Amino acid sequence: MGSPGGTGPIGPYPPGVVDATGQEEYDRLRRRVLWTLPYGLYVVGSRHGDRRNAMTLNWATQVAFEPKLVGIGVEKPALTHELISAGGVFSLCTVDRNDRAIVRKFTKPVDVDSEAMTLNGFGFRDGVTGAPILTQAVAWMDCEVTQAVDCGGHTFFIGEVRDAGFHSAEDTPVLRMEDTRMNYGG
Ligand SMILES: Cc1cc2nc3c(=O)[nH]c(=O)nc-3n(C[C@H](O)[C@H](O)[C@H](O)COP(=O)(O)O)c2cc1C
Repeated sequence: MGSPGGTGPIGPYPPGVVDATGQEEYDRLRRRVLWTLPYGLYVVGSRHGDRRNAMTLNWATQVAFEPKLVGIGVEKPALTHELISAGGVFSLCTVDRNDRAIVRKFTKPVDVDSEAMTLNGFGFRDGVTGAPILTQAVAWMDCEVTQAVDCGGHTFFIGEVRDAGFHSAEDTPVLRMEDTRMNYGG
């Protein structure tokens, strides 16, 4: 998943890649190389006004010590993109390695039950920024967006950590991309 459906190979190409066949081969090779990057796996909470969402994401990293900044790469068509752009906040939640089924529950806009405080049936609470944080998260960060970097099909949202904590024991093993058979990106 994550390959731009319906489009042909994407340049630029290194020297020696001259024809359409070469471009397709290089495009596939580069994708396999990109897939070897090791990643964690997270649930990102977003909110604008009364609208909330949660989505599965692997493109996340800390980007500075001082201030404490983390960045996430979000597809422009995603509801999460709309809510983070408008609301200026997001949460980043790690997930117990035994809860890998959760990944598939957050790949499209969620059903929100504001009375029961659930997102697709998973309990949440609102953090200090207002972003929803999954009760089931092992660890969580509640972030306020400081920069939105346009990266073409994605925006890299950089957020300052306003609050953080654990819901489970600190040494709970957390889910990583390698625990699934899925790819994203490439
Ligand atoms: C394993 C996995 C990893 C993903 N990683 C990302 C990611 O890093 N960034 C992103 O924008 N979408 C990622 N997605 C896709 C989103 O979960 C998916 O596009 C979702 O539909 C967008 O959700 P939304 O429209 O509810 O916001 C990933 C999906 C899976 C299954």
